[in-house]
Amino acid sequence: MSALEVISLSKEFGGVHAIEDLSFNISPGSVHSIIGPNGAGKTTLLNLITGIYQPTQGEVRLFGDSMAGMPVHARVMAGLGRTFQTPQVCMHMTALENVMLGRHIHLDGRFLPTALRLPRILSGEREARHRAAELMEYVGLADYLNDEPGSMPYGALKRLEVARALACEPKLLLLDEPAAGLGASEKADLTGLIEKLSGAGLTIVLVEHDMKLVMSISQHILVINYGQKLAEGQPTEVRRNPDVVAAYLGSAV
Ligand SMILES: Nc1ncnc2c1ncn2[C@@H]1O[C@H](COP(=O)(O)OP(=O)(O)OP(=O)(O)O)[C@@H](O)[C@H]1O
Ligand SMILES: [Mg+2]
Repeated sequence: MSALEVISLSKEFGGVHAIEDLSFNISPGSVHSIIGPNGAGKTTLLNLITGIYQPTQGEVRLFGDSMAGMPVHARVMAGLGRTFQTPQVCMHMTALENVMLGRHIHLDGRFLPTALRLPRILSGEREARHRAAELMEYVGLADYLNDEPGSMPYGALKRLEVARALACEPKLLLLDEPAAGLGASEKADLTGLIEKLSGAGLTIVLVEHDMKLVMSISQHILVINYGQKLAEGQPTEVRRNPDVVAAYLGSAV
C-alpha cells in the first residue's frame, strides 16, 4: 500500500493553475523529495495534502484512505505531520509548550473536563509534558526546554517544528524547506535528524531547494514545474534528466 497517493490533483487560484492534474505515489519508508523552481506549487501541494486547501479537482489518499473533505485535524489523526516553510511557533510560550501544542490532539481535550481540570486531564497534561521533553531531546533541543522561541537560533526553531510535528505521532512527515536559512553545521544536524527519523521507519516527504541535501538523503525525487510533474525517479536519474537540468538545476549539479 502507498503511504500517499495523489490522484489527478488540481488547484486553481483565480486564473493561476498552482497545481495541475498532478498524480504520484509515495511508498512507505525512506525519504522522498519534491523539488522545483520558486512558485512551482510545492507549498500549495503540501497545503492540499494536509487539508489547508481544498482541491479544485482530484484526490489525496493517505495509507489507502481518501482524505476528501477531511479537515486538517482529522488528517493529523490519520497520521499526517508537517512543518512550515516559515516556522509557525507561538512566541509567548516556551519551546516545550510549543511542542505540547502538537500533542494536544492526543489528549482528552473535551471542553468540560478541561475547564474543570479533572484528574484524568491533569495526568494527561503531565504525560504530554514528559513526552514533549523527550521529543525535544530527540531532535537535539534538550537545552532549550524553557526558552521562548524569540531567543532561539533559527536552526533550533526549525527543529522545534519537527518536534511539534512528531508530538502528533505521524506516520508520514512533510517538511517544507527545513534547511532554508540554516548554516552549514545546522544543515549537517538537520540531515542527521532526517536520517534518524527515516531510520526509525517514518516516511518523509522533503520539499527543499538545497540540492546537496536532497541528492544525499533522498531515495526518490519528484520534480514539479508550473504545478505539473516534470520528472521523477532516483536521484542519479533525476539529476541527469535534461528537462530537469533546463528547468531547474541549470549547471549547479
Ligand atoms: N493562497 C494563494 N492565493 C493565490 N495564489 C496562490 C496562493 N498560494 C499560492 N499561490 C500561487 O500558486 C503558485 C505556487 O506557489 P507555491 O507557494 O506553492 O510555490 P512553491 O513551489 O512553494 O515556491 P517556493 O519554492 O518559492 O516556496 C504561485 O504562482 C503562487 O503565487
Ligand atoms: Mg514554498
